[in-house]
Amino acid sequence: MVFPQSRPRRLRATAAVRSLVSETTLRSSDLIAPLFVAEGIDQPREIPSLPGVFQHTVSSLLHETQKLLEVGVRAVMLFGVPLTKDQTGSGAWAPDGLVQQSLSALRQEFGDELVLMSDLCLDEYTDHGHCGVVRDDGSVDNDATLRLYARTALAQARAGATMVAPSGMMDGQVGAIREALDAEGLSEVGIVAYSVKYASALYGPFRDAVNVAIADGGDRRSYQQDFHNIHDARREVLLDIDEGADMVMVKPAVTYLDVIAKVREFVDVPVLAYHVSGEYAMIQAAARQGWIDGQAVALEQLVAVRRAGATAVLTYFAGELAPLL
Ligand code: PBG
Repeated sequence: MVFPQSRPRRLRATAAVRSLVSETTLRSSDLIAPLFVAEGIDQPREIPSLPGVFQHTVSSLLHETQKLLEVGVRAVMLFGVPLTKDQTGSGAWAPDGLVQQSLSALRQEFGDELVLMSDLCLDEYTDHGHCGVVRDDGSVDNDATLRLYARTALAQARAGATMVAPSGMMDGQVGAIREALDAEGLSEVGIVAYSVKYASALYGPFRDAVNVAIADGGDRRSYQQDFHNIHDARREVLLDIDEGADMVMVKPAVTYLDVIAKVREFVDVPVLAYHVSGEYAMIQAAARQGWIDGQAVALEQLVAVRRAGATAVLTYFAGELAPLL
């Protein structure tokens, strides 16, 4: 028995009515492109596990950013790939370090056209691959790390970052950085907090992209969150907002839609989501086999992330999808 009044298909009958009742938008200005700049290369180098994504030179980085702006992507998140690493990750805050040089070049070229975010972490710069200072017993020293994050924030802010984005999951990192920036008269520089970051196997291709291997088969489970849990996500987000975060982030994205939806419910700052390297690589791998339509799946996933409540999405698909939006 079909009830005459119960015909949901009326609202799906034509493209016109479908677009009228469409609830979720995805615009190119909702996308943030993660970009890599590498030392010691003289031309862009494709990352094997992230096809279509490159380690850039400063000049190809400027060119890539120009192309992104032309298709309406107005925000980037910059990562550095240094040639040399050491125990404390000193390359992260070197005033003439590659990320700092790149931030200056981008700021000079694009000014306020671009939201220039800078990933703030030590793992790309440490020889042990951890996101902080490692003690003799192998544990990560939270408070010693905060001092280095504060230094790195100052270097990035002075170089031209409009927002710094601490991703190391140390307790108190947002507060330590906010305090350091304010003390140096850099109060206009914002903080995008990687607040909810799970210890995920989906970061694999990223670690290839930045040449990071964690020493002695280690992992990040003493600082990144356990994926069995959701309640500490609330605690992490509220602490970061309290400490001065301008935006919070949930990472990864598609595997954590429940977390995005929950965080969206109780915060009043923008909630970003990071569609991470493994999420990108899985789609590209299947698409390259001809098993799925990669762009269609990417679009479906990114809309799902917005539907769950994300204000904006970091995605390696930014440049490829923006022209289709
Ligand atoms: C840490 C950092 C990571 C990512 C962003 N910032 C790696 C990690 O925590 O091991 C992963 C991003 C991705 O997988 O796309 N600097």
